[in-house]
Amino acid sequence: MQNQVENVRLEALKAIEAASDLESLQQVRIQYLGKKGSVQGLMSLMRDLSKEEKPAFGAQVNACKEAISAAVEQKQAELAKKAMNARLENEKIDITLSGDRFQIGTQHPLMLIQREIEDLFLGMGYTIAEGPEVELDHYNFELANIPKDHPARDMQDTFYIDPNTLLRTHTTAMQMRELEKAKGRVPIKLICPGKVYRRDDDDATHSHQFMQMEGLVVGEKITLADLKGTLTYMADTIFGGGRQVRFRPSYFPFTEPSVEVDVSCPFCNGKGCSVCKHSGWIEILGAGMVHPHVLEINGFDAEKYSGFAFGVGLERVTMLKYGIDDIRNFYTNDLRFLKMFDRYD
Ligand code: PHE
Repeated sequence: MQNQVENVRLEALKAIEAASDLESLQQVRIQYLGKKGSVQGLMSLMRDLSKEEKPAFGAQVNACKEAISAAVEQKQAELAKKAMNARLENEKIDITLSGDRFQIGTQHPLMLIQREIEDLFLGMGYTIAEGPEVELDHYNFELANIPKDHPARDMQDTFYIDPNTLLRTHTTAMQMRELEKAKGRVPIKLICPGKVYRRDDDDATHSHQFMQMEGLVVGEKITLADLKGTLTYMADTIFGGGRQVRFRPSYFPFTEPSVEVDVSCPFCNGKGCSVCKHSGWIEILGAGMVHPHVLEINGFDAEKYSGFAFGVGLERVTMLKYGIDDIRNFYTNDLRFLKMFDRYD
C-alpha cells in the first residue's frame, strides 16, 4: 500500500512536469487532488486498515497530497509567468511607429484677426456686442442719421428684404442698437464684430459679404485724442509695434468730425513701397466723434457727453497683415489657402 502512495506521488509529479499550459495543469490537479481524484482514492483505502495502521498511512497520504499541491502551485506560477511573457511579446507595441493624426480644422484667418482684436479690447475693459445681420432700416440708417432720401444711402448699396428690412451694410447698426439700449447712461465701451453686406460686384478687393468690427466709447470728456490713442494701440497690436496713425478729414453722417484713418506702412516702415503705393501710409478704417444728433436721438445729453466710434474692415487688415492679394480667398474654402493659417502644424 505504501508503494501505491508512492506511485501516485511519482505519477502526479511527472504529469505536473509534463503540463505545458495552465489548462492541462488544471486537468492534472483535478485528476489527482479533486474530489474523485487519485489522492482521495488512496484515502478510501483506509477503510481496510487496522486501527494501528491508520495514522501512519493517513500521514503518508497527507504528505503525498502536500507534495502534489506544492508541485502544482510551483508549476502554476511558472506557467502563469510564461503565459504573461508570451502575451507581452504578442502585444508588444512598437513605440517608434508614428501615430494617427486627426484631421482638425484650422482657424479661419478672419477669426484669428477677430479674436486678436477682441482680446486687445477686452483687455482695455470693453465688452463685445453682437446682433442681427438681417437688420431694420431703423438701426442701419435712421438712427445713424441717414434718413430716407439722404444721399449717403447711395454710399452703401443695400440688399433690401422689404422696404424696412435689409442685410446690414455696416456694424454701425449695432452701435445704434447699443446706444438705444443704454438709454442715455454712460459709460459705454464696446466693440461689435460681425458680417455685413453690400451690393458690390465681387473682385479682388470687393466682396458682397465682408466683416467689420465697430468700436464705440461714450462718456464724459471723450475726445479725438482718445480715439487716436486707441487706434494707435490697435494698429500696433495688429501690425507690430511702432505704428503711427494719421487722420484725414472725411464724411460719415453719424460722426462729426469724421476721419479716414491711415497707419504707417508696416512693410516699409513709412518709407514707401509697393504695398502702400509709395505713400508710406495705408488706409485702414473710418472713424469719428459720435454725431451730437445721434447722441440726442438716442437719449444722451450731447452737451455733457461725447463719444468716438470707428469701423474697421477685418478682411482689409487681414489681407495687409498676411499679404493676401484677393479678398475672395476668404470665402472660397480652398484648403490650400486655409491650411496656411494652421497654427498646430
Ligand atoms: N460705418 C462706416 C463704414 O461702414 C465706418 C464707420 C464706423 C465710420 C464708425 C465712423 C464710425 O464705412
